[in-house]
Amino acid sequence: MRYFVKSGNPEKQRVGCVVVGVFERRNLTEAAARLDQAGAGGIAGIMRRGDMDGKLGTTLLLHHLSGTFCDRVLLVGLGRERDFDEQAYRKAHSAAAKGLLGTGTIDAVSYLTRLTVRGRDHAWNVRQAVLATDDEAYRFDTCRGEKARAKLPAPKLERITFDVPRRSDLASGEHGLDQGVATAAGIRLAKDLGNSPGNLCTPSHLAERAQELSKRYPIKTRVLDEDEMRRLGMNLLLAVSSGSRQPPKLIVMEYLHGPKGEAPIALVGKGLTFDAGGISIKPSAQLDEMKFDMCGGASVFGTLVAAAELKLKLNLVGVIPASENLPDGKAVKPGDIITSLAGITVEILNTDAEGRLILADALTWTEREYQPALCVDMATLTGACVVALGAHASGLFANTANLARQLLAAGEQSGDRAWELPLWPEYDQQLDCKFADVANIPPNFSRDAGAVTAASFLHRFTRKMKWAHLDIAGTAWKGKMATGRPVPLLTQFLVNQTAQKQA
Ligand code: BES
Ligand code: MN
Ligand code: ZN
Repeated sequence: MRYFVKSGNPEKQRVGCVVVGVFERRNLTEAAARLDQAGAGGIAGIMRRGDMDGKLGTTLLLHHLSGTFCDRVLLVGLGRERDFDEQAYRKAHSAAAKGLLGTGTIDAVSYLTRLTVRGRDHAWNVRQAVLATDDEAYRFDTCRGEKARAKLPAPKLERITFDVPRRSDLASGEHGLDQGVATAAGIRLAKDLGNSPGNLCTPSHLAERAQELSKRYPIKTRVLDEDEMRRLGMNLLLAVSSGSRQPPKLIVMEYLHGPKGEAPIALVGKGLTFDAGGISIKPSAQLDEMKFDMCGGASVFGTLVAAAELKLKLNLVGVIPASENLPDGKAVKPGDIITSLAGITVEILNTDAEGRLILADALTWTEREYQPALCVDMATLTGACVVALGAHASGLFANTANLARQLLAAGEQSGDRAWELPLWPEYDQQLDCKFADVANIPPNFSRDAGAVTAASFLHRFTRKMKWAHLDIAGTAWKGKMATGRPVPLLTQFLVNQTAQKQA
């Protein structure tokens, strides 16, 4: 799909479809009113007859509305005007995209971007419109058979133009468009990697995909293999991988386009390509979903692509510890004690708490290799985080209040929200154990505050840098489909960081 911005009158558009909004209670938006006037009351009549009542997310397709030059008009319900907020705005765009994709239209002009959302400008409007539309248009069909793929209906919609009220809004709109398009490219990549099945998307596959990125973007990729890990002493990553026949990889991508010598921002993503739990094996229900356990890593890919598409002037590194977690005669066992790269010894009481293990070594390595200005890790870390926050917010933990604030703000701004949870010493102490420096789960079998104790474990390895952790277990996929989150949050965070430095 290609996206554009312009400013023009709805009744003058010669396109396949013009999209306008209507509020509940027969309350027409300005663009709908213009079409209505041009067509001598056509839209008001439809609403009076009760064919469209303006309920949020509903649509009605009209053909050859008199007084217009377009083939179709898509009416989109916006709900009550006084309830029209950011969520409603996004929902309206999703409904519009769904409606458009169901028609034969090739190009469309949407006037939903003209709507006023409190506290948001036209750049925001257009950016969110692109993201909502692209999300709706996303398909994952690469794994269907050749014959089935040939028969798939080809998407007709090629171009969508988002209208802004005045010519003076064009610059702001274009700015939002660029950010939306770049972010959408990153989200698509993160979704594609996340949706790929575990038999194809192995640690080696992720490493190859990272090498590929360096051909398309100004990104330098390095991959540390098992021998290197052994030499360095990344024993936690090796322990998790020991039950697998797939060799682990530490994938490193550098996008260094900021001031020379400036400390980079580091993104570290959990790349567990399939999590069976290891010897502490998981029950089989929904186990297929554990192919998504590399979505943190996928968000590193996605965010680097978005940053590269935007040509952000910053130093950014992405690090992905990639491994499988499977039961085997060689697998690490509950009770085993392993010395981490940091030298901290870890008693592995549950082999299914593996994300924190591979991240601990990756975080230590990142801190030593780059001394980053700040470090954010993303991980589908705990089922407990899904219990706490569900699918609406990622769990956020940070050892620096300012970093937490900036990440929360970027989440609000992008609609990819996070919610902060505490890193108090009381939780940290729950990881103390009798046999080693730390246990990977509380030794007293407590499942209480599981998202917090997991973050506390990571915190033991991140005392020397500004660090935040996003638990994306509830947000990275929804209904067996990867969402691409938290690429929107992270991209917005990077855009804000870059803008802040320039100001
Ligand atoms: N990848 C899982 C977390 C997860 C589970 C994410 C379900 C999304 C949905 C992680 O490796 C894990 O297994 N965590 C355990 C930790 C427990 C053993 C302390 C969990 O959450 O059950
Ligand atoms: Mn696990
Ligand atoms: Zn896991």
